[in-house]
Amino acid sequence: MTRPTPIFAGNWKMNKAPADTRAFFNSFLELHAVRDDRSVWFFPPSLSLAAAREALSERPDIELGVQNIHWEAEGAFTGEISAPIAKGAGATLVLIGHSERRHVFGETDAQVGRKSAAALAAGLHPTICVGETLAERKAGRLEEVLGRQLAAALEPLAPEDVAGITLAYEPVWAIGTGVNATPDDAAAAHHWLRQRLRDRIGDPSAGIPILYGGSVKPDNARDLLAAGDVDGLLVGGASLDPDTFHRISSVEGR
Ligand code: PGA
Repeated sequence: MTRPTPIFAGNWKMNKAPADTRAFFNSFLELHAVRDDRSVWFFPPSLSLAAAREALSERPDIELGVQNIHWEAEGAFTGEISAPIAKGAGATLVLIGHSERRHVFGETDAQVGRKSAAALAAGLHPTICVGETLAERKAGRLEEVLGRQLAAALEPLAPEDVAGITLAYEPVWAIGTGVNATPDDAAAAHHWLRQRLRDRIGDPSAGIPILYGGSVKPDNARDLLAAGDVDGLLVGGASLDPDTFHRISSVEGR
């Protein structure tokens, strides 16, 4: 099976109001021509999704997602948004289990699984994030932690649903710190995750993109993308500036 087309994803976190979103795309669309050899995704704040959707009305090649959903479709959950609401507002993608959700907001492995199932049920494509802390890595617990997070995230999913996800390896110690994983570290973790996906669903696992995230910058993007089993990059801080993100999303490397 051929490797998935590389994916370059910008996670804006809690940055960019609607006006900033419009300004970003005014610049970015000038820089980024339509290309069929890569996918470009953005995860703006939910309240800036409509501005992003409008700015991209002529550019269906660029996909949009939300950064989180609740696992229920509707109900008395003040402050939350659901997968059907996100879909109705123009999202086709969703991040699930980002490390800030897990570590700042206490999201559990089981909740990540429920959210993944909710996304797929609503027709949103989930990017499920896993990653270890520095203490866990130093204690030799990398595989235990990734294995636990992955198993819980996929537990409620049927094999054909698992084949339709994207996975993101985001070591917690590399997120927003300026310390990226080395390409070798990323390749080792991605390879291990790929094996676990294969254990779970067999051959179709080869088509599941595995993104690397954590301090991706223009000067390390090429080497990270070239690392084994790295199918794309999930970019936080460096996705906020159109020129910087374009320098990442235009790298050639695999
Ligand atoms: P960073 O964030 O690129 O700012 O390290 C990555 C992420 O959290 O997805």
